[in-house]
Amino acid sequence: MTGTNKSADSGTEPIVVAVDGPAGSGKSSVSRKIAQQLGYGYLDTGAAYRALAWLVGERGINKDDSDAVCALVEDFHYASTLDPETPSVVVNGTDATMAIRRPEVSSDVSAVARIARVREHFNSMFRVIVADSGMPGVIVEGRDITTVVFPDASVRILLTADETVRALRRNAELAEQSPGSHSAKKTAEQLHARDRADSRVVDFMNAAEGVVLIDSTTLNFDETVDAVIAVIREQTVKEKA
Ligand code: CDP
Repeated sequence: MTGTNKSADSGTEPIVVAVDGPAGSGKSSVSRKIAQQLGYGYLDTGAAYRALAWLVGERGINKDDSDAVCALVEDFHYASTLDPETPSVVVNGTDATMAIRRPEVSSDVSAVARIARVREHFNSMFRVIVADSGMPGVIVEGRDITTVVFPDASVRILLTADETVRALRRNAELAEQSPGSHSAKKTAEQLHARDRADSRVVDFMNAAEGVVLIDSTTLNFDETVDAVIAVIREQTVKEKA
């Protein structure tokens, strides 16, 4: 299995749209919306890292013990739908769709995501999920999709926004999910701490060569969706030409 979706016998391989970006850049909601509009699948790679961090917590494993986390990966059975309408996550037969969004999982996830063996295992898993999707295209979003997982994807986009705007967006999301149960200041601190930890592993703040940068700081949701769709259309037309 390779990281490309352009192999010679790729007649039935889905078009891959790779979207990377930091927390709160809007990449998940924008990617889901676009997948719905284009009739594509949607793969949230962060959900897999979150699911592992959740299982680490459930089993009482020390998240900083790389060997113990790697051993757990052998017993980690991950299933997620590619349906952008109802993304769901099942781990070892348990529905963890809601649990993986808990604040303690957000705090622990960077520690498991920094382990190279975990990343290699997950990258292979993501490539298989996409290859077996049976969909015309899949929007794959994360931190290293444009650079490591699918460096030859048909479309590669880095979606960013100013730090303050990202914190405000994440805060609004959490307020909608559970009103009154969180502090805006703490949310911003956690988001920035996670970005700092994650940037030590992969660079998702600067666009690699050939990756289109979209800065959504001054764009609203619909404008961001439109900007991403415009790039997808442009790049897929260019590829066919
Ligand atoms: O949506 P948000 O930006 O909060 O994060 P996420 O996409 O749910 O990803 C959760 C965590 O998974 C990140 O903070 C990273 O530690 C890790 N991750 C990663 O290392 N590589 C990816 N391709 C995706 C996520």
